[in-house]
Amino acid sequence: MSKMNNVHFKFLPMSVRVLFSMVLLVFGLGYCMAMFQVWENHAGKDGDPMLSGKDLMIAYGGNPEGTKLETALRGSMADMLPAEKRQVIFDWLHTGANAEDIATKIDPIMQEHCIACHSPEANPHLPNFTSADGIAKVTAKDEGMTIHTLVRVSHIHLFSITFIFFITGYIFTHALVRPTWVKCVVIAIPFLTLITDVASWYLTKVWSGFAWVVILSGALMGTAFTIMWFTSMYQMWLGKVPAGVNEEGEIPCIR
Ligand code: HEC
Repeated sequence: MSKMNNVHFKFLPMSVRVLFSMVLLVFGLGYCMAMFQVWENHAGKDGDPMLSGKDLMIAYGGNPEGTKLETALRGSMADMLPAEKRQVIFDWLHTGANAEDIATKIDPIMQEHCIACHSPEANPHLPNFTSADGIAKVTAKDEGMTIHTLVRVSHIHLFSITFIFFITGYIFTHALVRPTWVKCVVIAIPFLTLITDVASWYLTKVWSGFAWVVILSGALMGTAFTIMWFTSMYQMWLGKVPAGVNEEGEIPCIR
């Protein structure tokens, strides 16, 4: 006769508890870094420094009023040059990004502030600003992330985040949480929101309102992670054995 024992944290060997805690510690740090990275990549694209739905609409769906160059100069590239030179580029973009002006107005700014990184020698993967052609590429309408980029990012995302939440969720199964359905919902949410999150990246291209589903999914995923993290750590080290755990240290399956 065999059955799946669901042993409470307090009855696990010390070595297992240490292992679980260290994994949670590193995942917690990783999660903070990930949040910081989302902020760094997306906040400010709409001109307002806070991260908003509009930022994500621009990141995934593109900016119908803007160009890649303007989006970058309002976002991650904003600090690369003084504000008055930034304005020169914006004015040029808003008056039609005339190719004749590149040599006189735009190229000197690029030479001074951009090509240290944006040249084939410095970084072959970045837009090349040593040629008018390269500059023209970022002055086309901003269509957001390409499908190619999205496919690459989404398969990495789907695989790696599944690992993180499999491990975090598995650790959390050793907690006593009642009613059981709440525990199950918390375990399921990260996987469901992972799917809605990734799907919404693509759907934002069709209807920009899906940017809010991206935000909502991220918020729910973060909430589930936080609940699992703190509940596991608390029940592992701080709390007493909860009433409801039997003498064998098992969490009964019923209820
Ligand atoms: C210190 C290195 C560095 C400098 C200087 C720099 N960039 Fe960048 N730039 C990057 C990196 C790295 C990326 C890609 C990551 C990102 O988007 O933040 C990038 C991305 C961009 C993009 C987005 C490209 C895309 O395909 O979406 C644009 C546009 C851009 N930079 C414009 C500029 C302009 C204009 C300047 C000068 C005012 C400048 N950059 C200065 C490193 C630099």
